[in-house]
Amino acid sequence: MKLIGLMFLLSFCNHLSAAPINVTSEISTLIRRIIWINWNQSNISHKFNPDAILNTPGMIKKAGYPAESYIIMTEDGYLLTLHRIPGGNNSLPVLLQHGLLCSSADWVVLGKGKALAYLLADQGYDVWLGNFRGNIYSKAHIFLSPKNSSFWNFSFHEMGIYDLPAMITFITNMRSQPLHTYIGHSMGATSFFIMASERPKIARMVQMMVGLAPAVLVNHLQSPVQHLLPFKNEIKRVMQLFFHDEFLQSDFVRFLLKKICQRNISLGEICSNFMFMIWGDDREQFNNTLLPVILNHFPTSISVKTLLHYSQIADSGKFRKYEYSRVKNLLIYNSMNPPNYDLSNITIPVALFYANNDWLISTKGVKRLYHLLPNVVDMYEVPWSKFNHMDFIWAKDASKLVYDRILKIMRRENSNNVRSVE
Ligand SMILES: *[C@@H]1O[C@H](CO)[C@@H](O)[C@H](O)[C@H]1NC(C)=O
Ligand SMILES: *[C@@H]1O[C@H](CO)[C@@H](O)[C@H](O)[C@H]1NC(C)=O
Ligand SMILES: *[C@@H]1O[C@H](CO)[C@@H](O)[C@H](O)[C@H]1NC(C)=O
Ligand SMILES: *[C@@H]1O[C@H](CO)[C@@H](O)[C@H](O)[C@H]1NC(C)=O
Ligand SMILES: *[C@@H]1O[C@H](CO)[C@@H](O)[C@H](O)[C@H]1NC(C)=O
Ligand SMILES: *[C@@H]1O[C@H](CO)[C@@H](O)[C@H](O)[C@H]1NC(C)=O
Ligand SMILES: *[C@@H]1O[C@H](CO)[C@@H](O)[C@H](O)[C@H]1NC(C)=O
Ligand SMILES: *[C@@H]1O[C@H](CO)[C@@H](O)[C@H](O)[C@H]1NC(C)=O
Ligand SMILES: *[C@@H]1O[C@H](CO)[C@@H](O)[C@H](O)[C@H]1NC(C)=O
Repeated sequence: MKLIGLMFLLSFCNHLSAAPINVTSEISTLIRRIIWINWNQSNISHKFNPDAILNTPGMIKKAGYPAESYIIMTEDGYLLTLHRIPGGNNSLPVLLQHGLLCSSADWVVLGKGKALAYLLADQGYDVWLGNFRGNIYSKAHIFLSPKNSSFWNFSFHEMGIYDLPAMITFITNMRSQPLHTYIGHSMGATSFFIMASERPKIARMVQMMVGLAPAVLVNHLQSPVQHLLPFKNEIKRVMQLFFHDEFLQSDFVRFLLKKICQRNISLGEICSNFMFMIWGDDREQFNNTLLPVILNHFPTSISVKTLLHYSQIADSGKFRKYEYSRVKNLLIYNSMNPPNYDLSNITIPVALFYANNDWLISTKGVKRLYHLLPNVVDMYEVPWSKFNHMDFIWAKDASKLVYDRILKIMRRENSNNVRSVE
């Protein structure tokens, strides 16, 4: 790292002597170049856990299950990867959808007998794992390159109105039956509610929804992230300068985190402490042995616009569309402020799971959501006082604390299951 710093300073000073220059643009290209050189020369060793080098289907196969991948296209041309653990001919289809900076790997990281995807497969469900546009498995478009900033012109709004409809129609057509359950973590729930309010026809193909830490009313943040909100315009500028439209250049960040966090146990602890700082501290539920596996998939890429959209709804406390300038709002929405998503028409039975120590999604916000949704069939606070935002997918005891209850709700829905695709 010292060497990088030195190189950086040297080349920066070099550049300074030559006038005229655009300092901000020079610094940003320089940083990108250094980042790229180091990344390209890396040779990460994976000595801890073989899962740490496998992709989602690889992990599934290693756990002894069949794995399938499908590439589907959205109405606006994005190419998304759906992973699947196929069930038998009479199995009920279930779609699991990941959260911010995550991917389909979320649902298998905990391993056989513990991860939700495997528990569902063991119960005979047909398990589908989605990947939103922009993440490592869905970074493709029929004519836009990810290098083109138009590629990154999306937030969870587009995931709701395009990605989920593409996945849900694909699954229901293939199986000729409605989707039995949709399970979404964090952003997976955000975009589901957008889909359900904006695309009611698609929503009718889903029989039940389970929202884990649903990111809908996200003011009341407890995370230190809240202190950044007042600076959202400055942050927007900085992010656009360094990352352009794809946040973090996630491949590099993952590489860096791996390098640092896997060096030895004490550095690994520093890394997990840093993560706890963002979404809540729960050392007891975090399995340090899993860190290399987690860091092989997290964080994945996301658009800057998605983060900005979250910062807007965190700031306003309203679940509403992306906010442009006043003039552009008028042009696009025909009003000065972006319109709210209408949650009152969502008739699908919904189960909401939340956690007391989730610094990103507060109990208060979930309770407000509960009052806005007409058909909540279960409202469940995870009975572990330190349970945090990522524990829903990474906790040692997630199966006992969360997944068992999901399976129970699904069984109950099976028995009074009456609706079919219209
Ligand atoms: C400097 O570069 C930045 C980023 O490329 C650009 O937005 C800005 O307009 C440039 N400034 C000048 C004075 O050229
Ligand atoms: C990255 O490394 C490979 C192999 O070492 C090399 O062939 C390639 O040219 C490098 N790419 C860049 C952009 O440096
Ligand atoms: C990377 O590491 C592996 C295992 O340690 C080794 O076999 C391989 O030759 C290395 N590759 C490079 C380019 O150094
Ligand atoms: C499932 O359906 C396929 C095609 O419809 C059929 O070939 C296969 O034998 C069936 N499998 C079972 C276990 O019924
Ligand atoms: C990005 O895509 C748009 C739309 O296809 C196209 O007009 C534009 O030229 C592309 N930009 C670059 C830099 O490729
Ligand atoms: C991004 O999308 C918005 C709304 O769909 C549109 O107004 C804007 O021009 C787009 N920007 C780019 C860079 O494609
Ligand atoms: C962990 O690695 C860091 C940096 O390489 C080093 O300073 C520290 O002493 C190491 N700690 C242990 C316990 O090995
Ligand atoms: C919601 O339901 C009301 C009453 O049934 C209806 O008037 C309204 O158009 C619906 N809104 C949407 C977005 O479907
Ligand atoms: C922690 O993760 C490792 C590697 O997947 C696994 O073998 C171990 O059983 C896990 N420990 C607990 C308590 O879940």
